[in-house]
Amino acid sequence: MLKTLDRALSRLGFCSRTEAAEWIRGGRVRVNGRAQTDPETWVDLDRDRITVDGRPLAPSRRIYLLLYKPKGYLTTWRDPQGRPTVYDLLGKLRQWIFPVGRLDLDTSGLLLMTNDSEFAELISNPDYHVPKTYLVKASTLLSDAQLAALRHGVELKDGRTRPAEVIRLRDSGGRTFFEITITEGRNRQVRRMVEAVGSKVLKLVRTAIGPVRIGSLEIGKWRTLTPAEVRALTECAKRGARRAAKEQSRRLPPEAV
Ligand code: URA
Repeated sequence: MLKTLDRALSRLGFCSRTEAAEWIRGGRVRVNGRAQTDPETWVDLDRDRITVDGRPLAPSRRIYLLLYKPKGYLTTWRDPQGRPTVYDLLGKLRQWIFPVGRLDLDTSGLLLMTNDSEFAELISNPDYHVPKTYLVKASTLLSDAQLAALRHGVELKDGRTRPAEVIRLRDSGGRTFFEITITEGRNRQVRRMVEAVGSKVLKLVRTAIGPVRIGSLEIGKWRTLTPAEVRALTECAKRGARRAAKEQSRRLPPEAV
């Protein structure tokens, strides 16, 4: 398994790639006994002996968390403007983990975090269409035709949206509350879709990713995913990967397959 040294350190769950590069440039990392100060050095994780501060690297335990991100928290490590980030909610957790995809500052709800970059890549690969479910409070009452448009796909500046599942939950106080499940993760997609049908999002909460639901978790809290949830999410994304591969082979001319 060949990887650059900085990627190898972050893949094993020790730190971010940026931190890894700092450690490497600082001379803290040795490969087969020799100090390596170039983060781009190729290493073979199956053969090379890598040490940090003299300690051999052992792959760290895989962690998979589900965090209920509150509105107003960034999905980044640090914010130059000093705004709160999801890392402020993790308490004493010592291992380096990172978010699987992003949630807007103004959006609350389910955020997965892990140190398993293969898992993260699988779940967030846009070609695998892992479904994401949101609760939406719209600024107006939405007609059946407006909800049907969301369901069938609306034209956005980056292209038409894929079909979505849309369920009206209730109409009250001049607002429609509905649930939408999309299989894409474009930037501010739900907000832009609702604007495309002539309304606005007042509140947006992500309640599920694939088969994993936020359930009764309190806002700002996290819990670890069960092994069954990790398996179910992985299987969901792998089914998407198989579908994507099939579709691609259908699009290729027969002689290229
Ligand atoms: N759609 C949005 O508009 N915002 C998000 O954070 C996620 C999906």
